[in-house]
Amino acid sequence: MTNALPVLLDVDTGGDDALALLLATASPALDVRGITCVAGNCALEQVVSNTLTLLDAIGAPPVPVAAGMDRPILEPGLPAPPLHGRDGMGDLGLPAPRRSEAGVHAVEFLRRTLADSAGPMTLICLAPLTNIAMLLRLYPRIEDKIERLYVMGGTFAAPGNTTPAAEFNVRYDPEAAAIVLHSGLPVTLYPLDPFVQVRFTVEEARKLTQAKGAGARIAGGIALHYCRFFGMEFSLIGDAGTVATVIDPAGAASERRPVHVALSSGATRGATVFDRRILTDGFAREGEWTDVDVVSKVDATRYRKLMAAALGATEALDD
Ligand code: RIB
Ligand code: CA
Repeated sequence: MTNALPVLLDVDTGGDDALALLLATASPALDVRGITCVAGNCALEQVVSNTLTLLDAIGAPPVPVAAGMDRPILEPGLPAPPLHGRDGMGDLGLPAPRRSEAGVHAVEFLRRTLADSAGPMTLICLAPLTNIAMLLRLYPRIEDKIERLYVMGGTFAAPGNTTPAAEFNVRYDPEAAAIVLHSGLPVTLYPLDPFVQVRFTVEEARKLTQAKGAGARIAGGIALHYCRFFGMEFSLIGDAGTVATVIDPAGAASERRPVHVALSSGATRGATVFDRRILTDGFAREGEWTDVDVVSKVDATRYRKLMAAALGATEALDD
């Protein structure tokens, strides 16, 4: 009987989702019971193919992979961001997957897995929240089987990425984000503020590509892709940082804060507005707000080492 935490991951693989999957599947602290896919970084079919391809490439156990929502709840979806490459996962040219998806819709897979679970489970959400929102709306009582949601999304004090005000996962499906964050479920939000902190240098990425483990070489290839795309000497471990906070919460500083998801059209759509005021007694908050645990910063060195150790490539790090 291991002490590994049973988790479900919701992804839009995506180069940095792939890094998160590499960490989650390699870590003895987590027992990945299923992976659900949603449209976001690329079209749903590509997300599923990338996820299956990655799992095959590292010889992962037969963890179920289920395809979910192929567009946001309300809008047609944003164009695939070019930064992830033509295939959405750094164009590494990995062999086509032999394994196949679970043949059940992701929302039904989540319902069934949570309903059948002995106790509440942890969900790690690294993508637009369309699957999770649909789950909560279709099966409200399933909330009793969700221990906590770790959500990569939004901004705390940092600027947006996909727009000046909004982070991609939340902006891609703002209604889904509002449904999930305002559900009242325990949420740990991993916003862009820590997301941009945890990096590999281009030299470290090159060393990873020469490492023994397939996962390390894939991580290095993805990191080098991002370095080349942005013309920078470093790249982010991205979504993998969210997984790191589940594995090693002591490496993250968080605070409980009220948050509002901006749904109105225009410049602020998809923004996560936090009430960071010191004095709030007697001052109003208009619209819908909910309290979440938001990660404001992380120990980047600690998480870089955690990632490299999971990849069996600690020698690739410069520090
Ligand atoms: O804004 C970053 C997030 O959007 C990451 O999860 C990335 O994979 C994309 O989904
Ligand atoms: Ca993602």
